Amino acid sequence: IPEMVSPAIALAFLPLLLTLIIRYRYYFVLFYRAILVRIWKDCVTGLTREERAYQYILTHATPGDPDSILDAFDVWCSKVEFISNIGPKKGKILDRLLMEQSPLTVLELGTHCGYSTVRIARALPLGARLYSVEMDQRNAAIAEKIIRLAGFDDDMVELIVNPSDEVIPRLRSDYGLERLDFVFMDHWKKSYCPDLQMLEGSGLLGKGSMIVADNVLFPGAPKFLRHIRKSGLYEWKIHRATLEYSKGIRDGMAELVYQGIK
Ligand SMILES: C[S@@+](CC[C@H](N)C(=O)[O-])C[C@H]1O[C@@H](n2cnc3c(N)ncnc32)[C@H](O)[C@@H]1O
Repeated sequence: IPEMVSPAIALAFLPLLLTLIIRYRYYFVLFYRAILVRIWKDCVTGLTREERAYQYILTHATPGDPDSILDAFDVWCSKVEFISNIGPKKGKILDRLLMEQSPLTVLELGTHCGYSTVRIARALPLGARLYSVEMDQRNAAIAEKIIRLAGFDDDMVELIVNPSDEVIPRLRSDYGLERLDFVFMDHWKKSYCPDLQMLEGSGLLGKGSMIVADNVLFPGAPKFLRHIRKSGLYEWKIHRATLEYSKGIRDGMAELVYQGIK
């Protein structure tokens, strides 16, 4: 019976699947074409796309100059190969919020190649410290090289290679943190809500702590948005923008200011 049921279920969903494919055919084609091109390039070059980006930055940016590293990244990602960095447009919103807040202790969730890490570190005041969390070891290895190439040492930027749900509970005990002034979330969207709740429970958020979360509209983080609406713990707004290195896909960044427990 189970053998007969599964084809029947598959057949029942086929019209829905076909409708979705036809409706979003433009994105499907772009998506699969990008994946095929990427696999082909991985085979031909023997490098990952992150390693290819790093090779370009090494040969086109000036060591110790964060601006030139970000510019080289932006050229590579807009003209050659997409990497999901925050990008220049949303990056400028992040820059402005960091300038206004002037935070001393910052947590970043989702380092990838270190683009946003360099962007954040560049905007921080003297004496500030940034903890950036990345669970993928290969991405973290590239990020470490990019961050150090930009001129930020271990005292200013510490890269933590582990999943966020293992790191957040240990921020006090292992890293001696007492308060987070600024949190930038740009890891897997399904982790936004549980990680925010974990941060609330940790006692590391104080009145005025700012949390900025990327991609809350695309791919979207509905549970996270529902939580911030319902919890009453935040003053918040959405900065509307487009997806990094694209024109047509609408996206947004959420800006939250923690109000403390009411
Ligand atoms: C969108 S990329 C980050 C881009 C980066 N913030 C930038 O703008 O340059 C997401 C990264 O988050 C990492 N990641 C996803 N979930 C994570 C988690 N739970 N803990 C730590 N890293 C995570 C992925 O491995 C990936 O490298």
